[in-house]
Amino acid sequence: MWLSNSSVGRKFIMAITGAVLVLFVTFHCLMNAVAIIWPVAYNSVCMFLGANWYALAASAGLAAFIVVHIIYAVMLTVQNRKARGSERYAISHRPKSVEWSSQNMLVLGIVILAFLVVHLIQFWAKMQLVEILGEETAIPATAGTLFLQEAFSTPWTLVVYLIGFIALWFHLNHGFWSMFQSVGWDSTVWIPRLKCIGAWWVSIVIALFIAEAVVFTVRANQDFYKTNAELREQYKDMIVPEFEKDFGPGAVQALSQAPYEQVSQMVKGQLQQMQNPQAQAYFANEPNFPQMVEFLEKKVEFFDYLESADAVDTPVMPGVPQPAAQAQPNDNN
Ligand code: HEM
Repeated sequence: MWLSNSSVGRKFIMAITGAVLVLFVTFHCLMNAVAIIWPVAYNSVCMFLGANWYALAASAGLAAFIVVHIIYAVMLTVQNRKARGSERYAISHRPKSVEWSSQNMLVLGIVILAFLVVHLIQFWAKMQLVEILGEETAIPATAGTLFLQEAFSTPWTLVVYLIGFIALWFHLNHGFWSMFQSVGWDSTVWIPRLKCIGAWWVSIVIALFIAEAVVFTVRANQDFYKTNAELREQYKDMIVPEFEKDFGPGAVQALSQAPYEQVSQMVKGQLQQMQNPQAQAYFANEPNFPQMVEFLEKKVEFFDYLESADAVDTPVMPGVPQPAAQAQPNDNN
């Protein structure tokens, strides 16, 4: 009860939940850095985390910390405003020692929350949530790099992320040392040191986030995540096991041994055959037939999505008549 009833207890809860969130943000920016250095490994991490019990437990725990942090932030702000009464409006010159961020933690928190809503819609809802709901989507839920492609090829994403990062920098810069103060580490020697450590820690984390967002934006606009040959092989490996249910283990074995281009052609050819009126008539009594066609249509939609980036403009030679534009493979390695 002391924790929720007293001001010291509430600050203690803010500090503990804040510490967990600082650690999460630090881990998160390091994990995103993998996507810069080695995109294939990043997808492997996404597959490992996915909707497994340990990832779900971690996500639920994280969500609980975020919710508690927000509820207590609102409670503390309301309590502080009540305590100060009308005086809050009378102050025109705040002491210099009171930093701008400390006065605006709630507003900064609201900006971060708004960023988080956009961010979770762009990533979490299309990845972990899709896996939890067991939805069939054209893009595999574990293909993290393709969600980077989708998010960062949208022109406003970089702007929204930069606003979120700046708000996060101010919020964490104050929050870092103030959480130590809240748990009783209020020493005149250590607070300046913790402010310095906090400023470095938070600046490195935010600089890394900014670098990541810029790199992802550049690569997404080059369609790198759709066209890179190594990534395409990985996307193929992600979807091939799904063929087992309708087409059996033989199909899975054949597809997993073939390279990406061949699998794409095989799947498209199979769909064409199955859409042929003769095949439709032949399989009219096969109850799974419509389901198999629907499944192949989804897969072809995925291959078409990846290959939509392959159509390159052929340089036009003045005065020379041009043939009709053709899609061309582009590895972009
Ligand atoms: C370049 C910037 C960022 C990128 C590329 C990025 C990427 C991602 C991805 C791919 C996921 C989905 C993981 C999954 O569901 O498997 C995710 C989830 C998440 N992100 Fe980010 N993120 C970025 C910045 C941030 C920042 C600054 C915050 C915090 C303010 C944040 C908070 C979260 C949270 C809370 C989740 C949900 C985690 C969970 O489900 O356990 N992200 N992010």
